[in-house]
Amino acid sequence: MSDTLKRAAAERAAALVSDGMRLGLGTGSTAAHFVAAIGERVRGGLKVIGVPTSEATRQQAEREGIPLTTLDETPELDLTVDGADELDGQLRLIKGGGGAHLREKIVAAASHRMIVIADGSKHVETLGRFPLPIEVVPFGLKATEIAIAKVLKGSGLNPDLRLRAKDGNPFVTDSGNLILDAHLGRIEKPDALAAALNAVPGVVEHGLFLGLATGAILATGEGLVELGQ
Ligand code: 5RP
Repeated sequence: MSDTLKRAAAERAAALVSDGMRLGLGTGSTAAHFVAAIGERVRGGLKVIGVPTSEATRQQAEREGIPLTTLDETPELDLTVDGADELDGQLRLIKGGGGAHLREKIVAAASHRMIVIADGSKHVETLGRFPLPIEVVPFGLKATEIAIAKVLKGSGLNPDLRLRAKDGNPFVTDSGNLILDAHLGRIEKPDALAAALNAVPGVVEHGLFLGLATGAILATGEGLVELGQ
């Protein structure tokens, strides 16, 4: 998606923000446009506070001059705006392409509303074409991989340990964990898969966001399409 379209979706979401709001600030290239748009409005006098969903977003928000808080200080948020790797017609999401889905999910769950801003091509019939990120603790990695493979049996290939493109070393999340990417193709029963993965010791969080997004702003060649609220 062109940067212009990403920015258009982000600016539409930024227009939903008003004085006094407590915001969750998402992670990724689309969410970065939202953070930039909020930064511009803050410099123009908008009064908000934000909880960043990653260290990268924290750094950007600080540069933009957005006042930041934590969920410890502000455990309830009004609105989170974040990107997604896939979303379906029921606003179920796959997130974690940037490896931030643990904090993203905690922040989204603490928010009254979560608006997804994304490229229209991320809107799919059935989730699963995008590999499902599963964050795991480093301890017992092999045993956790085997337990996850049992859960996924018949659903696809064994998950891949995510590596950093720059040096081939394991990707380490902001919380010091590792990520397994599961190539599933189609996720027919997201709720059942989410529950099964949640039950595996060593799994910290997976990228299925179910019942969290309340709306979406999709940027397409024909303009913006809004789903939910
Ligand atoms: C990070 C995420 C991102 O929101 C997702 O990867 C989309 O990113 P982008 O807007 O760059 O396509 O879940 O963990």
